[in-house]
Amino acid sequence: MLAAPSKSGTIEIKGLQKVYESKKSRFEALRDIDLTIGENEFLTIVGPSGCGKSTLLRMVAGLDEPSGGSLQVDGEEIIGPGADRGMVFQGYTLFPWLTVRENIEYGLKLKGVSILERRKISNYFLKVIRLESFDKSYPKQLSGGMKQRVAIARALANRPRVLLMDEPFGALDAQTKLEMQEMLLEVWEKEKTTVLFITHDIDEAIFLSQRIVVMGAGPGRILKEFRVELPEGRTPEVREHPDFLALKRELGQLLKH
Ligand SMILES: Nc1ncnc2c1ncn2[C@@H]1O[C@H](COP(=O)(O)OP(=O)(O)O)[C@@H](O)[C@H]1O
Ligand SMILES: [Mg+2]
Repeated sequence: MLAAPSKSGTIEIKGLQKVYESKKSRFEALRDIDLTIGENEFLTIVGPSGCGKSTLLRMVAGLDEPSGGSLQVDGEEIIGPGADRGMVFQGYTLFPWLTVRENIEYGLKLKGVSILERRKISNYFLKVIRLESFDKSYPKQLSGGMKQRVAIARALANRPRVLLMDEPFGALDAQTKLEMQEMLLEVWEKEKTTVLFITHDIDEAIFLSQRIVVMGAGPGRILKEFRVELPEGRTPEVREHPDFLALKRELGQLLKH
Protein backbone atom coordinates (compact mmCIF):
# COMPACT_ATOMS: atom_id res chain seq x y z
CA MET A 1 0.00 0.00 0.00
CA LEU A 2 1.28 3.44 -0.91
CA ALA A 3 1.40 6.40 1.39
CA ALA A 4 -1.63 8.62 0.87
CA PRO A 5 -1.03 12.08 -0.57
CA SER A 6 0.37 14.48 1.99
CA LYS A 7 -2.71 16.64 2.10
CA SER A 8 -5.62 17.59 -0.09
CA GLY A 9 -5.90 21.20 -1.09
CA THR A 10 -8.15 24.15 -0.46
CA ILE A 11 -8.97 26.35 -3.43
CA GLU A 12 -9.85 29.96 -2.73
CA ILE A 13 -11.25 32.16 -5.49
CA LYS A 14 -11.94 35.80 -4.65
CA GLY A 15 -13.43 38.51 -6.85
CA LEU A 16 -12.21 36.73 -9.94
CA GLN A 17 -12.63 38.53 -13.25
CA LYS A 18 -11.80 37.50 -16.77
CA VAL A 19 -12.00 39.76 -19.79
CA TYR A 20 -10.89 38.60 -23.22
CA GLU A 21 -9.62 41.61 -25.10
CA SER A 22 -8.34 42.10 -28.59
CA LYS A 23 -7.87 45.24 -30.70
CA LYS A 24 -11.42 45.06 -31.94
CA SER A 25 -13.37 43.46 -29.16
CA ARG A 26 -13.79 43.12 -25.45
CA PHE A 27 -15.62 40.17 -23.91
CA GLU A 28 -16.34 39.83 -20.22
CA ALA A 29 -16.20 36.09 -19.62
CA LEU A 30 -16.30 36.04 -15.81
CA ARG A 31 -17.44 38.63 -13.28
CA ASP A 32 -16.94 38.60 -9.52
CA ILE A 33 -16.48 34.91 -8.88
CA ASP A 34 -16.16 34.07 -5.19
CA LEU A 35 -15.80 30.42 -4.32
CA THR A 36 -13.96 28.38 -1.72
CA ILE A 37 -13.53 24.65 -2.17
CA GLY A 38 -12.58 22.85 1.00
CA GLU A 39 -10.04 20.17 1.69
CA ASN A 40 -11.19 16.84 0.24
CA GLU A 41 -14.39 18.37 -1.09
CA PHE A 42 -16.00 17.22 -4.34
CA LEU A 43 -17.47 20.32 -5.95
CA THR A 44 -19.09 20.47 -9.36
CA ILE A 45 -19.84 23.49 -11.52
CA VAL A 46 -22.75 23.24 -13.93
CA GLY A 47 -23.99 25.85 -16.36
CA PRO A 48 -24.90 26.48 -19.97
CA SER A 49 -22.32 26.35 -22.71
CA GLY A 50 -20.29 29.55 -22.87
CA CYS A 51 -20.85 30.67 -19.27
CA GLY A 52 -17.13 30.47 -18.51
CA LYS A 53 -16.73 27.09 -16.79
CA SER A 54 -13.64 26.10 -18.76
CA THR A 55 -12.21 29.60 -18.44
CA LEU A 56 -12.51 29.34 -14.67
CA LEU A 57 -10.93 25.89 -14.54
CA ARG A 58 -8.10 26.88 -16.84
CA MET A 59 -7.23 29.71 -14.49
CA VAL A 60 -7.20 27.39 -11.48
CA ALA A 61 -4.97 25.11 -13.53
CA GLY A 62 -2.70 28.08 -14.15
CA LEU A 63 -3.10 27.83 -17.93
CA ASP A 64 -4.72 31.24 -18.23
CA GLU A 65 -4.39 34.50 -16.29
CA PRO A 66 -7.16 36.30 -14.46
CA SER A 67 -7.93 39.92 -15.34
CA GLY A 68 -8.64 40.66 -11.69
CA GLY A 69 -9.18 39.08 -8.32
CA SER A 70 -7.23 36.33 -6.65
CA LEU A 71 -6.82 32.57 -6.96
CA GLN A 72 -5.08 30.52 -4.32
CA VAL A 73 -4.39 26.89 -3.50
CA ASP A 74 -3.57 26.35 0.16
CA GLY A 75 -2.92 30.04 0.59
CA GLU A 76 -0.51 30.31 -2.33
CA GLU A 77 -1.32 32.47 -5.32
CA ILE A 78 -1.62 30.48 -8.55
CA ILE A 79 0.94 31.73 -11.05
CA GLY A 80 1.11 28.81 -13.46
CA PRO A 81 0.55 25.09 -13.78
CA GLY A 82 1.91 22.97 -10.94
CA ALA A 83 2.20 19.37 -9.80
CA ASP A 84 -0.15 20.19 -6.90
CA ARG A 85 -3.01 20.35 -9.43
CA GLY A 86 -3.80 17.36 -11.63
CA MET A 87 -5.87 17.84 -14.75
CA VAL A 88 -8.22 15.65 -16.72
CA PHE A 89 -9.95 17.31 -19.65
CA GLN A 90 -12.22 15.88 -22.28
CA GLY A 91 -9.72 16.36 -25.06
CA TYR A 92 -6.69 15.93 -22.86
CA THR A 93 -4.96 13.25 -24.83
CA LEU A 94 -2.46 10.71 -23.67
CA PHE A 95 0.96 10.58 -25.26
CA PRO A 96 0.35 8.20 -28.18
CA TRP A 97 3.99 7.05 -28.34
CA LEU A 98 4.01 5.93 -24.70
CA THR A 99 2.44 2.80 -23.25
CA VAL A 100 -0.27 2.96 -20.61
CA ARG A 101 2.30 2.45 -17.87
CA GLU A 102 4.69 5.03 -19.33
CA ASN A 103 1.84 7.53 -19.57
CA ILE A 104 1.01 7.01 -15.90
CA GLU A 105 4.66 7.33 -14.91
CA TYR A 106 5.36 10.33 -17.12
CA GLY A 107 5.12 13.06 -14.46
CA LEU A 108 7.03 10.96 -11.94
CA LYS A 109 9.86 10.45 -14.40
CA LEU A 110 10.04 14.21 -14.98
CA LYS A 111 10.29 14.70 -11.24
CA GLY A 112 13.20 12.25 -11.10
CA VAL A 113 11.40 9.55 -9.12
CA SER A 114 13.39 6.28 -9.23
CA ILE A 115 12.30 3.43 -11.50
CA LEU A 116 11.49 1.24 -8.53
CA GLU A 117 9.27 3.82 -6.92
CA ARG A 118 7.66 4.64 -10.28
CA ARG A 119 6.79 0.98 -10.80
CA LYS A 120 5.23 0.80 -7.37
CA ILE A 121 3.07 3.83 -8.03
CA SER A 122 2.03 2.80 -11.55
CA ASN A 123 1.21 -0.72 -10.34
CA TYR A 124 -1.02 0.75 -7.68
CA PHE A 125 -2.87 3.04 -10.10
CA LEU A 126 -3.16 0.38 -12.82
CA LYS A 127 -5.00 -1.63 -10.22
CA VAL A 128 -7.17 1.31 -9.11
CA ILE A 129 -8.34 1.90 -12.70
CA ARG A 130 -8.57 -1.87 -13.33
CA LEU A 131 -6.23 -1.86 -16.32
CA GLU A 132 -3.45 -4.04 -14.93
CA SER A 133 -3.35 -6.24 -18.01
CA PHE A 134 -3.10 -3.24 -20.35
CA ASP A 135 0.15 -1.85 -18.94
CA LYS A 136 2.03 -2.45 -22.21
CA SER A 137 -0.79 -1.29 -24.51
CA TYR A 138 -0.67 1.97 -26.44
CA PRO A 139 -3.47 4.57 -26.26
CA LYS A 140 -4.73 3.77 -29.77
CA GLN A 141 -5.46 0.20 -28.60
CA LEU A 142 -7.81 1.45 -25.87
CA SER A 143 -11.48 2.45 -25.86
CA GLY A 144 -12.48 6.01 -24.95
CA GLY A 145 -13.37 5.02 -21.41
CA MET A 146 -10.09 3.19 -20.90
CA LYS A 147 -8.16 6.21 -22.17
CA GLN A 148 -9.89 8.49 -19.69
CA ARG A 149 -9.12 6.00 -16.92
CA VAL A 150 -5.45 6.22 -17.84
CA ALA A 151 -5.70 10.02 -17.92
CA ILE A 152 -7.11 9.96 -14.38
CA ALA A 153 -4.38 7.59 -13.22
CA ARG A 154 -1.72 9.76 -14.83
CA ALA A 155 -3.05 12.82 -13.01
CA LEU A 156 -3.30 10.98 -9.67
CA ALA A 157 0.15 9.39 -9.92
CA ASN A 158 1.67 12.79 -9.16
CA ARG A 159 -0.30 12.86 -5.93
CA PRO A 160 -1.92 16.22 -6.61
CA ARG A 161 -3.71 18.00 -3.80
CA VAL A 162 -6.39 19.07 -6.25
CA LEU A 163 -7.91 17.28 -9.22
CA LEU A 164 -9.37 19.51 -11.94
CA MET A 165 -11.79 17.83 -14.34
CA ASP A 166 -13.44 19.57 -17.29
CA GLU A 167 -16.23 17.39 -18.72
CA PRO A 168 -13.92 14.38 -18.56
CA PHE A 169 -16.66 11.91 -19.48
CA GLY A 170 -18.44 14.13 -21.99
CA ALA A 171 -17.40 12.10 -25.01
CA LEU A 172 -18.24 8.68 -23.60
CA ASP A 173 -21.30 6.56 -24.24
CA ALA A 174 -23.98 6.47 -21.54
CA GLN A 175 -23.05 3.12 -20.01
CA THR A 176 -19.32 3.80 -19.91
CA LYS A 177 -20.02 7.19 -18.39
CA LEU A 178 -21.91 5.60 -15.48
CA GLU A 179 -19.05 3.17 -14.86
CA MET A 180 -16.53 6.00 -14.91
CA GLN A 181 -18.55 8.00 -12.39
CA GLU A 182 -18.56 5.08 -9.97
CA MET A 183 -14.85 4.53 -10.46
CA LEU A 184 -14.13 8.20 -9.86
CA LEU A 185 -16.07 8.19 -6.58
CA GLU A 186 -14.13 5.12 -5.43
CA VAL A 187 -10.85 6.81 -6.31
CA TRP A 188 -11.86 10.05 -4.61
CA GLU A 189 -12.79 8.20 -1.43
CA LYS A 190 -9.46 6.36 -1.45
CA GLU A 191 -7.19 9.18 -2.50
CA LYS A 192 -8.68 11.98 -0.41
CA THR A 193 -8.09 14.59 -3.02
CA THR A 194 -10.05 17.79 -3.56
CA VAL A 195 -12.01 17.63 -6.81
CA LEU A 196 -13.24 20.54 -8.90
CA PHE A 197 -15.42 18.99 -11.59
CA ILE A 198 -17.23 20.54 -14.54
CA THR A 199 -20.13 19.07 -16.41
CA HIS A 200 -23.34 20.11 -18.10
CA ASP A 201 -24.89 16.78 -17.11
CA ILE A 202 -27.10 17.43 -14.07
CA ASP A 203 -27.45 13.76 -13.20
CA GLU A 204 -23.67 13.36 -13.19
CA ALA A 205 -23.25 16.47 -11.03
CA ILE A 206 -25.66 15.21 -8.36
CA PHE A 207 -24.33 11.66 -8.34
CA LEU A 208 -20.74 12.78 -7.82
CA SER A 209 -20.82 15.92 -5.73
CA GLN A 210 -21.05 17.14 -2.21
CA ARG A 211 -21.78 20.63 -3.50
CA ILE A 212 -22.97 22.01 -6.83
CA VAL A 213 -22.46 25.55 -8.08
CA VAL A 214 -24.67 26.78 -10.91
CA MET A 215 -23.24 29.39 -13.24
CA GLY A 216 -25.03 31.64 -15.68
CA ALA A 217 -23.79 33.52 -18.74
CA GLY A 218 -23.58 37.15 -19.87
CA PRO A 219 -21.22 37.71 -18.03
CA GLY A 220 -20.25 34.37 -16.50
CA ARG A 221 -21.17 34.39 -12.82
CA ILE A 222 -22.38 32.22 -9.99
CA LEU A 223 -26.17 32.02 -9.77
CA LYS A 224 -26.78 29.57 -6.99
CA GLU A 225 -25.23 26.91 -4.83
CA PHE A 226 -26.61 23.60 -3.61
CA ARG A 227 -25.38 21.19 -0.99
CA VAL A 228 -26.08 17.60 -2.02
CA GLU A 229 -27.44 15.90 1.08
CA LEU A 230 -27.20 12.33 -0.11
CA PRO A 231 -25.38 9.53 1.67
CA GLU A 232 -21.65 9.05 0.95
CA GLY A 233 -20.51 5.75 -0.54
CA ARG A 234 -23.09 6.32 -3.27
CA THR A 235 -24.41 3.48 -5.36
CA PRO A 236 -26.37 3.79 -8.62
CA GLU A 237 -29.63 3.31 -6.67
CA VAL A 238 -29.17 6.75 -5.17
CA ARG A 239 -30.54 8.08 -8.47
CA GLU A 240 -34.00 6.99 -7.35
CA HIS A 241 -33.72 8.73 -3.97
CA PRO A 242 -36.46 11.40 -3.60
CA ASP A 243 -33.85 14.04 -2.68
CA PHE A 244 -31.89 13.19 -5.83
CA LEU A 245 -34.97 13.58 -8.00
CA ALA A 246 -36.04 16.80 -6.29
CA LEU A 247 -32.62 18.37 -6.80
CA LYS A 248 -32.55 17.19 -10.39
CA ARG A 249 -35.86 18.94 -11.03
CA GLU A 250 -34.70 22.15 -9.35
CA LEU A 251 -31.41 22.27 -11.25
CA GLY A 252 -33.21 21.47 -14.49
CA GLN A 253 -35.56 24.41 -13.96
CA LEU A 254 -32.71 26.76 -13.11
CA LEU A 255 -30.70 25.79 -16.18
CA LYS A 256 -33.67 26.18 -18.52
CA HIS A 257 -33.70 29.96 -18.00
N1 LIG B 1 -9.32 32.82 -25.79
C1 LIG B 1 -10.54 33.38 -25.86
N2 LIG B 1 -10.72 34.58 -26.48
C2 LIG B 1 -11.93 35.15 -26.54
N3 LIG B 1 -13.04 34.63 -26.01
C3 LIG B 1 -12.93 33.45 -25.39
C4 LIG B 1 -11.68 32.76 -25.27
N4 LIG B 1 -11.88 31.60 -24.59
C5 LIG B 1 -13.19 31.58 -24.30
N5 LIG B 1 -13.82 32.69 -24.77
C6 LIG B 1 -15.25 33.01 -24.61
O1 LIG B 1 -15.54 33.03 -23.24
C7 LIG B 1 -16.82 32.44 -22.99
C8 LIG B 1 -16.69 31.31 -22.01
O2 LIG B 1 -16.02 30.21 -22.62
P1 LIG B 1 -15.79 28.83 -21.86
O3 LIG B 1 -15.09 29.12 -20.59
O4 LIG B 1 -15.14 27.91 -22.80
O5 LIG B 1 -17.30 28.39 -21.56
P2 LIG B 1 -17.88 26.97 -21.08
O6 LIG B 1 -16.75 26.09 -20.73
O7 LIG B 1 -18.77 27.29 -19.93
O8 LIG B 1 -18.68 26.45 -22.23
C9 LIG B 1 -17.36 32.00 -24.34
O9 LIG B 1 -18.27 32.97 -24.82
C10 LIG B 1 -16.13 31.95 -25.21
O10 LIG B 1 -16.46 32.24 -26.55
MG1 LIG C 1 -16.13 24.20 -21.44
